[in-house]
Amino acid sequence: MLYSQGMQDDLSRRNFMKTTAVAAVAAPGILRAQNASGAVRIGWIGVGSRGYYLMDRLYTGSKDLAQVTAVCDTYAPHMSRAKDRVQTMGGNSPKTYEDYLDLLQDPSIDAVVIATPEHLHYPMFLAALKAGKNIYVEKPLAHTIEEGEAMVEAAEKSGKVVQVGTQNRSNSLYQQAKEMVAQGMIGDIHYVRAFWYRNSLEDNPAWRYKVPDDATPQNSDWNKFLGSAPKHDWDPHRYFQWRLYWDYSGGIATDLLVHQTDITNFVCGKVVPASCMASGGIYRWTGAGDDRDTPDTFSAIYEYGDKFHVNYSSYFGNDHYGYGENFMGNEGTIEVLNRQILNFYPEKFGGKAPAGVSARKELHVELPGNDNKAVEAHIKNWLEAIQGKAKVIAPTRVGQEAAISGHLATLSFRNNKKILWDEQARKYRFA
Ligand SMILES: NC(=O)c1ccc[n+]([C@@H]2O[C@H](COP(=O)([O-])OP(=O)(O)OC[C@H]3O[C@@H](n4cnc5c(N)ncnc54)[C@H](O)[C@@H]3O)[C@@H](O)[C@H]2O)c1
Repeated sequence: MLYSQGMQDDLSRRNFMKTTAVAAVAAPGILRAQNASGAVRIGWIGVGSRGYYLMDRLYTGSKDLAQVTAVCDTYAPHMSRAKDRVQTMGGNSPKTYEDYLDLLQDPSIDAVVIATPEHLHYPMFLAALKAGKNIYVEKPLAHTIEEGEAMVEAAEKSGKVVQVGTQNRSNSLYQQAKEMVAQGMIGDIHYVRAFWYRNSLEDNPAWRYKVPDDATPQNSDWNKFLGSAPKHDWDPHRYFQWRLYWDYSGGIATDLLVHQTDITNFVCGKVVPASCMASGGIYRWTGAGDDRDTPDTFSAIYEYGDKFHVNYSSYFGNDHYGYGENFMGNEGTIEVLNRQILNFYPEKFGGKAPAGVSARKELHVELPGNDNKAVEAHIKNWLEAIQGKAKVIAPTRVGQEAAISGHLATLSFRNNKKILWDEQARKYRFA
């Protein structure tokens, strides 16, 4: 369809968050929970880097909708830091738990946030549903495809409200990109390029976060961290830098890539790829004593069933190109960079562009800090869904679709084989 300048201006002005919110009307009777003030009572499981940040976003964006009544973490200093935060920001003193199963027994808790390492999402999620809680679970949904499938089934049976932490769906710029694609602004789209590049100095290797000086197997509860992962002697690197080990993480594929395959599906109206071929290795961070498993250099090529191709790359040795997605249509390009810039360029066709294409004006939108706003909107959407006023934008099934792309890439890389996804059977096999 032709895209007039008026429509284009309108797109850049409109509040896309509102558009989505209006479309999202909840099924009746989702939840009656909430205390007398109507606030959702939350138990927070995992208050490390992400959990602590999410809590700030909750207090910034949805303070009146929720109350954090309990926190759980196995590392004692994280727990006391979070307790202080709740007291300062929420004005109440939350209960504290070292074992999430104890927290789940509290019938006054309506909902839980799960922001623990990847391998712990599955048992925590199933136990939370069993205890009748609504859930905000960080991405990736699970550590394996099979776990994720079981989680989708359990969540859909339970009728509880689940939001997966793929917050780009709540980012106004991706919502704008989606609408522009749907309105034909870039023509047909068969090709997306997505990337996430990082770099750091030699003395600060990628994902080697600082291990706190006071960490011990006792104040970190090593066995609870391991859960059902293979037994291993206490190793604070594994505990605080879990992204570097296959036992607890899929590395780049499930930590970073899933955000970008997810948002590609969202913007372009896709679900899951039909195949993946991944390649890479540990090329940059090879220092003596660095026992990391997960690659620092990674590419994955996806084919979808309907002539759609995603070219993904990530490297931890150069950050010049940063983070972004290029949606490359045959009549134009939309790129979203660092979650806060949207650019649109019509195709030039060597000066011979048809009038309908050349009439489209370039568009540049920059919204600094837009990821913070996206997280706030994502949490708010979850709370409003619990209150029966909205529908979640990233339910369990959508989170699993995002995670499948990541797991396919990890499996392809680790087995050095092309992998195929059978959507009917909901199983993978190697080509
Ligand atoms: N959506 C996003 O953009 C985004 C960004 C960063 C991280 N994440 C996700 O958030 C999750 C957490 O990542 P992080 O960076 O905060 O990790 P982290 O290591 O900083 O925090 C994990 C916390 O879980 C605690 N923990 C470990 N085992 C536990 C157990 N058995 N019971 C209770 N607590 C336990 C740890 O003590 C720690 O405080 C991951 O799934 C990650 O992928 C999402």
